[in-house]
Parts: sequence; structure tokens; C-alpha cells
Amino acid sequence: LTKDRYNVKRGEYSLLTDGHMAFFMNLLGQNRVINDPSECESYNIDWIKNVRGQSRCILKPRTTEEVSKILEFCNENKLAVCPQGGNTGLVGGSVPVFDEIVISTALMNQIESIDEISGVIVCQAGCILENIDQQIGEKGLMVPLDLGAKGSCHIGGNVSTNAGGLRLLRYGNLHGSVLGVEAVKANGEILDCLSTLKKDNTGYHLKHLFIGSEGSLGVVTKVAIQCPTKPKAINMAFLGVESFDSVLTTFRRCKNELGEILSSFELIDALSLDVVTGHYKMQSPIPQFPFYILIETHGSCNEHDEEKLNRFLESAMGDGVVLDGTATNQPSKMKQLWELRESITQGLLMDGYVFKYDLSIPIKEFYAIVDVMNEKIGKDAVRICGYGHIGDSNIHLNLSFKEYSKEMHNKIEPFVYEYTSSLKGSVSAEHGIGFRKSKYVHYSKSPAAINLMQDIKRMMDPNKILNPYKVLPESS
Ligand code: FAD
Ligand code: MLT
Ligand code: ZN
Repeated sequence: LTKDRYNVKRGEYSLLTDGHMAFFMNLLGQNRVINDPSECESYNIDWIKNVRGQSRCILKPRTTEEVSKILEFCNENKLAVCPQGGNTGLVGGSVPVFDEIVISTALMNQIESIDEISGVIVCQAGCILENIDQQIGEKGLMVPLDLGAKGSCHIGGNVSTNAGGLRLLRYGNLHGSVLGVEAVKANGEILDCLSTLKKDNTGYHLKHLFIGSEGSLGVVTKVAIQCPTKPKAINMAFLGVESFDSVLTTFRRCKNELGEILSSFELIDALSLDVVTGHYKMQSPIPQFPFYILIETHGSCNEHDEEKLNRFLESAMGDGVVLDGTATNQPSKMKQLWELRESITQGLLMDGYVFKYDLSIPIKEFYAIVDVMNEKIGKDAVRICGYGHIGDSNIHLNLSFKEYSKEMHNKIEPFVYEYTSSLKGSVSAEHGIGFRKSKYVHYSKSPAAINLMQDIKRMMDPNKILNPYKVLPESS
């Protein structure tokens, strides 16, 4: 399937032999080497079910040293590998394209230290995001990252994709909050850049090579993260507005009036909300509007925060910018509001086949892409909708169809990328490049930048064993 659809040729890697398997069994024991075809299946299919690999070898190391020995062996034997965390990636980067060996971090799930005073935690790459958040929550801390896949994604996967998520607007991206990284290079060498210091200007900041490089430069084995204090007060509002202009006005006002406590500002258009009210029968707390806004605040004094939020809502509703809305700080109600937003991704899959785009677009032009695609594709689609992190100028444009069609694919791509590029946007705001977008990087990066990335790749992985066919276009 993959080969036909994408016209990709297998690289000149060795084929897996019994001798290779014996080495892995000897290193990890039988239970941590999976080769039964049916057990291998879930590691070969991505979350959105767009790509499928054919690996017959899944390895589950527990320690950095084991990862090092695996990579040293694979490098010497020219065996290609695909690092995998929670396999929730949305660009086909986390599954093999052909028969690459999957290195799963599922058993690397220990939190090694929590410094309650500085807020710095050190953990292995395979810790599930939600588990970390729960454990450090007991000590009054929170992970500065939250996303719909939190129950499955691994922190190593988050770092490797530089995941953005629902609160980036407040807590910044992982290039800021990851203080240190331990990674294993393609040749098996362990690179200890696991600083727990906030300030450390001793030479090049090598950790950044691993943040967002999607397993193409090394396998992340441990991370040190600066975690903020868990907020004492959380408030949310769910609003309905008539036009995208009103969304922008509300955002501006929100920043002015909620200032330092604003932790999330998310957009959901009518057809996106319809995904969850339709497929999952979830209840919207307000009647139908063309656009919905989800606002969250994190602060330290509920009385102040509630007062600020209410004052903001009164003024925005008073002069008709916001037409309807509800505010709450009850945990169960807030959970329901987040579910409306977070379930869109999964719900869309019930439409059929989804073409998914994750674009950074200058905020004024943010939503026009949905109208442009409606004009271009119109009724052939089940749904053309937009939602996302408007606070970060990051829209998720989704076009769903009953089934995949090559003709439709060609109608949408590369048009979407050309359009985004013409606005000086980014063809991947937060999901990464993976397998699906590697030939489109040039829409957002100059030839010189791509050459330098390819030079770095050649230097760090001369045998190209790490996550081949992904992230960068084939170099000449
Ligand atoms: P995987 O999917 O397993 O891997 C992702 C990439 O990282 C692959 O290229 C893989 O090879 C590489 N990789 C994984 N682990 C390692 C490692 N230890 N070392 C080196 N390379 C590694 N993303 C966002 O940015 N923001 C969102 O709001 C968001 N919401 C989502 C909601 C849902 C419902 C889903 C399904 C996905 C969402 N995503 C979002 C995408 C995805 O969850 C993130 O990209 C996440 O960071 C991937 O983590 P993972 O552990 O599942 O990684
Ligand atoms: C989100 O913001 O919900 C995620 O990035 C996933 C998606 O694009 O659907
Ligand atoms: Zn997102």
C-alpha cells in the first residue's frame, strides 16, 4: 500500500536474518523481542491508519545501554530502525515504511527524579505524558505540555516531535522547557546532554538537535524538563461567535484583560464541533454558532481569576462580540469542555478518510484556507473544517471523504502547501514532517537550510539507518 501510494523504493539495507534475531534475543530476552506477525501489527500501523509498514522485529529495551547496543549492532550490520514512542504521531513518522526494526520505548517508563523546589524532573523517554503529569501533580507540579493524545504518547515522542499542544500559548514550546536530553547516536554512542540547569551556555546547545528531529538523528532515551507549579485556580469558558473577525477581536481582548492568566485560546468551527456532537453525541453547552472559542485560565487565586474572566465575558457579551457563552471552574464540567475539543481528532476518522493539515498561518489569514478549500473541493468532501491553536496561529485543516482517492489527493496537494507558503506560513506547525510531508519541506525551508539539515544528517547517521524515508527529502 505504502509503496504504491507514495512510490518509494526500499533503501539498500540488510535483510533481517536469524543471526540478527539471535543477537537481539540474547540482548533483551525473548519477551522483549516481538516477531509474531499478529503482535507486530499494531507497531506497523499509524494512529490515523494512513500508513502501514511490514516490520517483523519490534525491540523493547529498558535501558539506555540496551538502546546503545541495539544501535551499534544495527549500524554495523546496516539494519534500518524506526524509533517508536506511543505511536500517536500524525505524519507517519512513527511506523516503518518497509521492514525497519522498531525500537519501542514502551518499557523505558521510569521517572528518575523530581526536584520539588526547582520543578525539574528527569525521566526516561517512554513515560506516558499523562502518567508523568499525575505523578508530579502529587508534588504540586505539572508538565508544561498537554495534548489530546496524553494518555498514550510518550515524553520521548513529544520531545522528538517538539509537540505543541493546547497550552503552548502560556508555557512555550519544548525547545524552552526541555533543559537536557540524553540520546543515543546512530553508531551507539551515548550522548549525555542531560543538564538539569536552566542556564548552561557551555558551547553548542546540542539538545536542540533532538527536539523535533523525529528520530532521524538519534534515539532520545532520557529528558530533563522544567515543570511549572500546578495552578491553584483553573477557569474555563466556552463561547459562540458569529464571524472569524469576532474571534480575532475576542482573542485580542482576552490577551488584554486576562493577561498573565490566559493558558489556552482554542478555536473550533461549526463543522468541527459537529464531529463530536454528531459522531459521539456529546452535548454542546451553547446553541449553534459559526465559531466557538475555548478559553482556559491558570492562576493562583480563584477569586481574582473568576472575577477577571467574568468581567471579560460581561464586556465581550455586552457589546455583541461574543453572542453566547458559559464559564465554569467545576472540574467535571471543565473536563467535558476539553473533551469537546480533544475528541475532534478521533471523531473525524469516523467520516471515512481524512486529509489532515497542520499549518502555521499568519493570524489574520488563519481561517481563509477553509473557505478556499471549500471553493476548490466543495461537495465532494464529507466535511472541510478547521480548528486549532489560534493563540499560536496554528490551524488544523481537515478534509474528510468517504474513502481515499488519488484524484482528490492530487487536487489538495501540493495546493495546500503552495497556498501556505505564499502566506509565509509553515507546512508543519507542530505535528512534524514524518513520512507524509518529507517532499514538501521546501515549501517552508530554503534550499540552503535543507542542505544544512542533510549535512547534519550525513554527519550523525552516515549509514542512514535512523528512520529512513522520513523528515528530509532524499539527498542527491
Ligand atoms: P510516536 O508517534 O511514537 O513518534 C513520533 C515521531 O517521533 C516518530 O518520527 C518517531 O520515530 C519519533 N520518536 C518517538 N520516540 C522517539 C525517541 N525516544 N527518540 C527518537 N525519536 C522518537 N501533536 C501536537 O503537537 N499537538 C497536539 O495538540 C496534538 N494532539 C494530538 C491529539 C491526538 C488525539 C493525537 C492522536 C495526536 C496528537 N498530536 C499532537 C500528535 C502526537 O500525539 C504527537 O506528535 C506526540 O508528540 C507523539 O508522541 P508519541 O510518543 O506518540 O510518538
Ligand atoms: C489537536 O490540536 O487536536 C491535534 O494537533 C490533533 C489534530 O490535529 O487533530
Ligand atoms: Zn494541535
